[in-house]
Amino acid sequence: MGAILRYLSQRFTMVTPQAKATLNDIGTEELAHLEMMGTIVSQLTQGLTDKQVREAGLEAYYVGHGLGVYPASAAGVPFTAAYIQSKGDPICDLYEDLAAEQKALATYNYLLDLTNDPDVIAPLKFLREREIVHFQRFGEALDIVRDYLKEERVFSIKKPDCMM
Ligand SMILES: [Fe+2]
Repeated sequence: MGAILRYLSQRFTMVTPQAKATLNDIGTEELAHLEMMGTIVSQLTQGLTDKQVREAGLEAYYVGHGLGVYPASAAGVPFTAAYIQSKGDPICDLYEDLAAEQKALATYNYLLDLTNDPDVIAPLKFLREREIVHFQRFGEALDIVRDYLKEERVFSIKKPDCMM
């Protein structure tokens, strides 16, 4: 029984100090990024007139939230904890984290496509760079956890000769 519990506690928690530190660091930074995005939205909407709200297509948002910053998707779907995935398996959860970083990177690219405001572009580019760093750090954590758990690296197969 002790061996089973020890296995489960190693298998289903973030099992190494390095991986825990990575999650703590990135999680803390992501909260700061949320604040940065909220500040950008606040600065862009501060003092908008009724006419500007209508021209920007923000009537529905304005009715629901005034000019306050409300965390929602571009389609108006409010942020919920359902967006945060956790399976309780460190390998699975780290893949989820990697996917989240890549999706955030794509979102910043799309946002950059839609603006020509240098005061918006600069912070968006900074945030986009951080997603790349986060992706790399989660990848390192995944390697560390795999080594710790002695799991096979599914994607670390030898390349065929034709691809060398
Ligand atoms: Fe990130």
